Amino acid sequence: MTSPLLEPLRFRNGATAPNRIWLAPLTNLQSHADGVVSDDEARWLASRADGGFGIVESAATHVSADGQAWNGQLAASDDRFTEGWQRLSKETQAKGAPLLAQLFHGGARALPFEGRAPWSASPSLEGEPAFTEATVAQIEQVLADFIAAALRIERAGGAGVELHGAHGYLLCQFLSSTMNRRTDGWGGTLENRARLLREAMQGIRAVVKPGFIVGVRLSPENFGSLTGLDLDESLQVAKWLADDGADFIHISLWNAANMTLKRPSEHPVPLFVKALPADLPVISAGGIWTREEAEAQLTLGASAVALGRSAILNADWPTRVASAGEEPRRTPTTAAYLRASGLGEAFVNYLAARPGFMA
Ligand SMILES: Cc1cc2nc3c(=O)[nH]c(=O)nc-3n(C[C@H](O)[C@H](O)[C@H](O)COP(=O)(O)O)c2cc1C
Repeated sequence: MTSPLLEPLRFRNGATAPNRIWLAPLTNLQSHADGVVSDDEARWLASRADGGFGIVESAATHVSADGQAWNGQLAASDDRFTEGWQRLSKETQAKGAPLLAQLFHGGARALPFEGRAPWSASPSLEGEPAFTEATVAQIEQVLADFIAAALRIERAGGAGVELHGAHGYLLCQFLSSTMNRRTDGWGGTLENRARLLREAMQGIRAVVKPGFIVGVRLSPENFGSLTGLDLDESLQVAKWLADDGADFIHISLWNAANMTLKRPSEHPVPLFVKALPADLPVISAGGIWTREEAEAQLTLGASAVALGRSAILNADWPTRVASAGEEPRRTPTTAAYLRASGLGEAFVNYLAARPGFMA
């Protein structure tokens, strides 16, 4: 059976992917303690390229040593990591799936580094784990770090990068009106709160080749403990990023079937599609398991879907579910199944700690 999910995807810069089914960025703790790519990491990403995913996204990857948020996290913060990225690029892209590195800084949620507390747009409030307010020098340094990391991915042969502007990490902390209470040029108005993300986008776009894909992941609205995000502000930020040269906008929805919180009669996907230029792909993610659920996102106007848990459970989702129309395997699952499906021990243990994941 044919599905529109299996049609090629064209990015705004003209780069293409063989289909519209992405492996979502999935933190898996499989990297070496120093952030270097491991055999398990390479095997995991290649396994999903092998299964027919049209784009493979890496786990969130820190761009600065002080941006690391967990042990076993991938790094692109220094030239010594480039060789590992060459391997990831080669091994996934040999199977036909362009590799996108998800570039990240943990901000307030980073691990303490060299004895110093992490930093964010504004300092921690009472009752929060301690973090400090960024100096302008720290902001300028992290911008340089995002740009340098993108150049390393390009040099390593990766297809592109996604700026992680979602889920309450540094770029999202600056966007948030509650986490960013600065009164200088990096806070206050939406223009100022969006400045870090926009300058990262502009700075990367200015130095990479036109064919290198540069996109961004956004959380359109608050979710869980994440506060200070507003749907209309997120739409405006996405429009600015389009002006700044974004090749795609990836919206992280957690449950892509849901309407927006702010306007419960409206779905986020058509809102973003309508706000953005027609040639700018909008990628939708969250709770997509079946072919019908994925195709429904395309009907709403998304250009592609990104799968997280269903990609963990279904290495061959593009062929077995999208093409053959079979039902996806679902949680709960077993460690033995996950090991046989390309996950290393660190990833299996990480998932085992998630309620309901294992039988
Ligand atoms: C184990 C795990 C790790 C994740 N790591 C990341 C990450 O590194 N970066 C990110 O943007 N989202 C991350 N997410 C969120 C997923 O990319 C996805 O948006 C979310 O799981 C909802 O999609 P799903 O229902 O298809 O899993 C992670 C989710 C899971 C389950």
